[in-house]
Amino acid sequence: MSPVFAANWKMNQGPSAAAAFVQTFVAAFAPRGDRTVVLFPPALSLSEVRFRLTERPDIHVGVQNVHAEEKGAFTGENSAAIARDAGAEYVLVGHSERRHVFGETDAESARKVAKVHEHGMVPVLCVGETIEQRERGTTEHVVLHQLRTGLSALAHADMLGCIVAYEPVWAIGTGRTATPDDAAAVHRVLRGALLDEAGAGASTIPILYGGSVTPANAATLLSADEVGGLLVGGASLDPTSWATICSA
Ligand code: PGA
Repeated sequence: MSPVFAANWKMNQGPSAAAAFVQTFVAAFAPRGDRTVVLFPPALSLSEVRFRLTERPDIHVGVQNVHAEEKGAFTGENSAAIARDAGAEYVLVGHSERRHVFGETDAESARKVAKVHEHGMVPVLCVGETIEQRERGTTEHVVLHQLRTGLSALAHADMLGCIVAYEPVWAIGTGRTATPDDAAAVHRVLRGALLDEAGAGASTIPILYGGSVTPANAATLLSADEVGGLLVGGASLDPTSWATICSA
């Protein structure tokens, strides 16, 4: 199973900055068949990124969010159909900032996952506990609830086309990374639940780790049990550091 390296730019890098990023990144990262690289620029930069990657079909693109409805009067939002039409292949769903800043619920994440799948893209369902939940000993309960609810609107066979990302909220943007053992422990729990839900085929669903990944810790985290890739925020904004992580 080849690892997935996903760059979540959040609300950074408009079209001009994104174009400059791609130019430096493609020079620093040669195509290789043993890994999948996905960039998640802001939606308004997606077309520019895709255009700049015309010669690099090995590098994929996605969006950070879509609305759960098919279309209609939702000023300011983008639908899955619009994302697909603009060239997105992947969609982040239920990122911690969507949940904690924008109040996205597990039920909404489930509807988004189903919409993304319906439009032929890969949902990347993000789960993770807060520091309070970890200290209370409820990590497992929290991530399993997010996972099971998030996938609940999909047929079992369709779950196999998803990616899951474990991002402990206390590790996102804090410089505080989960130890490889802590990450592996949660990843094993998630794998067990995926196997329960979707059967033996679920052994190939990539489970990414995210939260303060850097060029210095990427290889160690990637070598942890059941870690099938990395979802990177801050360190993915610098093309050189991102190229180093993608080469881990
Ligand atoms: P970070 O963000 O790498 O800056 O911690 C990760 C994420 O939010 O996906």
